[in-house]
Amino acid sequence: MKHLIDIQSISKEEILNIINLAKEFKQGTKDSDVQKKTLSLMFYENSTRTRCSFEIAAQKLNMNIINFDAPHSSLSKGESLKDTIENLYFLGVNAVVIRHCLSGIINNVMKQVKYPICFVNGGDGTHAHPSQALLDFYTMLEKIGSVESKKITIVGDVSHSRVAKSNISLLSKFGADIHLCAPSYLQFENHNAFNVTYHNDVKTAIEGANVVMVLRVQNERHDKEGYPDSSEYKRLYEIDTELLKQYAAKDVILMHPGPANRNIEVSSELLDNQVGKTILEQAQNGVFVRMAILNTILKESEG
Ligand code: CP
Repeated sequence: MKHLIDIQSISKEEILNIINLAKEFKQGTKDSDVQKKTLSLMFYENSTRTRCSFEIAAQKLNMNIINFDAPHSSLSKGESLKDTIENLYFLGVNAVVIRHCLSGIINNVMKQVKYPICFVNGGDGTHAHPSQALLDFYTMLEKIGSVESKKITIVGDVSHSRVAKSNISLLSKFGADIHLCAPSYLQFENHNAFNVTYHNDVKTAIEGANVVMVLRVQNERHDKEGYPDSSEYKRLYEIDTELLKQYAAKDVILMHPGPANRNIEVSSELLDNQVGKTILEQAQNGVFVRMAILNTILKESEG
């Protein structure tokens, strides 16, 4: 495992190795194998959690960090991403984390680059967000022990969600019972693409659910023509304390990859209570999971 591009490309064993390594980093029982390696964070799209947690992960691993300033780089003069990354490699960069609005661009540029730099997908368009799925899995295992046969319901804008796709891919490998809930205009067009159960009604979708993962409505990726306003979405799909209490499993875990739109897809009251705290723990676990990702790919690329 020298790169992390999507979940489909890694095995169950590789996933579990990352999870176990993340656990050791969280417990403080494992030292960095990749100190003095250099990481470049190349974020062409906004980010808080992914960018900051990769940066903190690299700091904890005693790596050097280059915060690549995309808007002020020579890309604005027409330099290609391939040329940029090959130059960074010759400057001494060992790995890049890239976030980009174009689906598939990271896989594409990785195939063009001739030098052994490690690639990590920090989220590309509506395609994949593998480090998010890994940290979500880590958090689920920490909270409920196993996902096998557990009902995991993802509620929200699944059609535009790289997080949903990466989670479906990962959770399917581990035998979870996956349910997706969204209005028809935010569902996947091809219902045969994934082996999941589709719902329009939120109450049936979360009934008995062990995990409810809420997603943001990604207004920035919509052609807004014909979309209902957010008050209509809120009326039908907002997750709040009462809904979880009435329909979900007693010890349901609430998750959200962030950023959350308070009082649209999830109530502000729920976010701020004890159940909502898991979402912050999820973000915190991102640091340890990303330490495990960086340590693994950089160590294996040496071998
Ligand atoms: N979950 C996630 O990718 O958040 P950011 O956009 O803040 O990185």
